[in-house]
Amino acid sequence: ISLKIYGLIRITHSLTWFNTANQTKLYNVVSEGLSGKKKFWNFLNNQQTIQTTTTVEKPSASIRTEHISVHQYVAHPSNYHFILDEPDKCSQNPFLVLMVPVAPQQVDARNAIRSTWGNESSVQGKAVLTLFLVGLTGGPEAQQQLEEESRQHRDLVQSNFVDSYFNLTIKTMVIMDWLATRCPQANFSMKVDSDMYIGLENLMTLLLAPNTPRQNYITGHLMWNQNVIRNKNSKWYVPKELYPEPKYPTYVLGMAYVFSNDLPPKIVEASEAIKPFNIEDAYVGACLKRLGINPSGAPDPSQFQTYMNNPKSHDLSKLITTIAGSPEKVVEFWLNVKGHK
Ligand SMILES: *[C@@H]1O[C@H](CO)[C@@H](O)[C@H](O)[C@H]1NC(C)=O
Ligand SMILES: *[C@@H]1O[C@H](CO)[C@@H](O)[C@H](O)[C@H]1NC(C)=O
Ligand SMILES: *[C@@H]1O[C@H](CO)[C@@H](O)[C@H](O)[C@H]1NC(C)=O
Ligand SMILES: *[C@@H]1O[C@H](CO)[C@@H](O)[C@H](O)[C@H]1NC(C)=O
Repeated sequence: ISLKIYGLIRITHSLTWFNTANQTKLYNVVSEGLSGKKKFWNFLNNQQTIQTTTTVEKPSASIRTEHISVHQYVAHPSNYHFILDEPDKCSQNPFLVLMVPVAPQQVDARNAIRSTWGNESSVQGKAVLTLFLVGLTGGPEAQQQLEEESRQHRDLVQSNFVDSYFNLTIKTMVIMDWLATRCPQANFSMKVDSDMYIGLENLMTLLLAPNTPRQNYITGHLMWNQNVIRNKNSKWYVPKELYPEPKYPTYVLGMAYVFSNDLPPKIVEASEAIKPFNIEDAYVGACLKRLGINPSGAPDPSQFQTYMNNPKSHDLSKLITTIAGSPEKVVEFWLNVKGHK
């Protein structure tokens, strides 16, 4: 084992991993992991305050090389904890769990979902559950409102990361963590954005089809051969320091992807070694690539639509997903399909 710098750490986070990370300055410090295992924390830049409570030490013989290669990045859910939780939600063994990342203040979006696809508890005889995942609110008043909403609906999960667009990767990994720890018995899960229309009947038909794999399965709107965006003015800009390769691995577009529920713990584990970047769906793609799992194309790819320019000219009733774009449209699309029945 080569001599490295070791130290026990306490972290006083001020993580800015997504913007100015300078990978050439890495801090490798070892800490006692949650389970008492030695873990490495590999920080992306030098803007963080790291307090070492122990200085340089020779590695003891018991520290093995495989422990040294374990990295735990800012997107790893072990960095966060739940403030609002629904740990017993899955006691009824749901077949499908829909996890909706949403900003704390987006009550309208949640209510639109609660009155449409989120209000379906059974589809083709299979139990379905919808939960919302939020980060920190702006302040105590907003927090009180959120807690009141939580008491009323019992469908909110809140974690203690700063809720922002750039932190969607953290949000997704916290969703994976929730599924892995609170709901391992579910058969399938879906990560679905709050402005989506979901055709649950069609989704269930796909999931119950005999040739749909029960394991290592993820499908949706596939993205192949996508260039990493290096234009700093783009919302999807990712610096080379965070993701050096010019193209992303094949991934499933983040608006809605459905997966067998054996994947969340695997993705969480893989993420320990994948440096986070702010494109959550491509990040999940990078985790899957590490796991050797290829996203599957849907049997009928046209069921996973993105935008529909003119919904009236399309048959919504055949779809599994499409972007509705607003709470009003979520309701409109839903009534449109229900009206056809
Ligand atoms: C990153 O850090 C290295 C080493 O300190 C330095 O030479 C380099 O200029 C830095 N790059 C950026 C983009 O800040
Ligand atoms: C959910 O559906 C039930 C009937 O199945 C209805 O009584 C209830 O009002 C609905 N909830 C919402 C929030 O629309
Ligand atoms: C992302 O979340 C982390 C952890 O809460 C926080 O330190 C950071 O400021 C957040 N970033 C943004 C852009 O909100
Ligand atoms: C769902 O998973 C359970 C095990 O968790 C299994 O017993 C059951 O057969 C699965 N249901 C379907 C419809 O595949």
